[in-house]
Amino acid sequence: MQYEKVKTAVVGCGMISNIYIRNLKELFSITDLVAVCDLHPEAAKAKAETYGAGRTMSIDECAADPEVELVVNLTPPGAHYGVIKQMLEAGKHVYTEKMFTTDIEQSRELVALADAKGLYLGVAPDTVLGAGIQTAKKLIDCGLIGDVTSVSVHINRNQALNSETFRFLRGDGGALPYDVGIYYVGALLTLLGPVKAIRAFGVPAPLHEAQLLYNNDAEPWRIPGNNILTASLEFASGAVGSVLFDGNTIGASQHGFTVFGTEGILKVGDPNEFGSPAALIRPEAGEAEIPFTHGYDGKNYLEHFPFEGYGHRGVGVAEMAYAIRKGRKNNRCSKEYGLHCQEVLFGMDEAARTGTTYQPQSRFVMEGLRSGCYSSQFGGKARGDAELSLVY
Ligand SMILES: NC(=O)c1ccc[n+]([C@@H]2O[C@H](COP(=O)([O-])OP(=O)(O)OC[C@H]3O[C@@H](n4cnc5c(N)ncnc54)[C@H](O)[C@@H]3O)[C@@H](O)[C@H]2O)c1
Repeated sequence: MQYEKVKTAVVGCGMISNIYIRNLKELFSITDLVAVCDLHPEAAKAKAETYGAGRTMSIDECAADPEVELVVNLTPPGAHYGVIKQMLEAGKHVYTEKMFTTDIEQSRELVALADAKGLYLGVAPDTVLGAGIQTAKKLIDCGLIGDVTSVSVHINRNQALNSETFRFLRGDGGALPYDVGIYYVGALLTLLGPVKAIRAFGVPAPLHEAQLLYNNDAEPWRIPGNNILTASLEFASGAVGSVLFDGNTIGASQHGFTVFGTEGILKVGDPNEFGSPAALIRPEAGEAEIPFTHGYDGKNYLEHFPFEGYGHRGVGVAEMAYAIRKGRKNNRCSKEYGLHCQEVLFGMDEAARTGTTYQPQSRFVMEGLRSGCYSSQFGGKARGDAELSLVY
């Protein structure tokens, strides 16, 4: 069946827009990239020229343009609230990069606004729709590790060093738990469902010395918020878990993600990637890597350095575009999922600050994508039929 393409505009033409623009234009058949916009017109013009990507517009022109149905917000986290609100008020569906916003009340307001206007609002990370996490989800959902009893997750970075290169990390949303931990929270929620209760400890980032690598910053800075969070979670399912996000250590990334069950153990791949495989351990059997049950493994013939691993960014946009055309709910990277991700992180901060248990109020539903649809052409790098998994 043919679906009318969803007329889509990208707002925010920075680094991550490169892979989004290519995928929305060339990889997904459901999206038609009609415009690119940026606060700085020259940034939008450069992307339009590089990728032959539609018209360039100001933000106000985009909001006022009747052709644009769906806006993909790729601005820094501090700009998200304003951009999303303006586009929803203008009657556009919106898909936004993470974090949803830098303030939980603002995110709640945007969810209510989208509900009131009957508009779709989707939120990254969409790495949870990649082959790695979808395969892990299928495996858990079909009972291969029995009932999930507990989970252990950790990730580390040198976030201060990263903030020298990526300047937006110096602002709200730049601390490791928000900038990177969000991928792990997204995967946790995708695999185990909503969180019922949180206890936590937090440690802020140290003051960062004036630039070591570059010489364009005279003053030291401190990444706001807790740059280490460690928490105990109780899921609505009854499973419990421990989480550690440490941004005050070195950059050699040592991620861990293990789900324990009554009949087995699942070592989940890196949720920051689309195609990091899972391994299954069953009693009396060795550890075995599980072949993917889903497509979108991150290998993308449109992708070139430095976007290694970013390959299928935008899959959440395409899934939402099918939801729009079919009039179904986008029960994957939905606004409810985005809000719960944010509330779990907010809850860790709150629990650490108050020394009490935080109980998230938000709830969400996460449906798995249809399995058995792969990008099977050209060595697995081209579209193939993986997009079929996004239709239903
Ligand atoms: N860079 C990455 O590796 C990466 C990966 C995944 C997700 N993200 C997320 O994607 C978003 C963008 O990241 P990036 O690395 O591309 O940032 P960037 O700083 O490279 O680009 C952001 C762009 O948004 C524009 N902009 C800022 N405020 C605006 C506004 N109010 N209206 C319109 N345009 C505005 C800026 O001019 C800039 O061109 C962030 O939310 C980030 O968390 C980034």
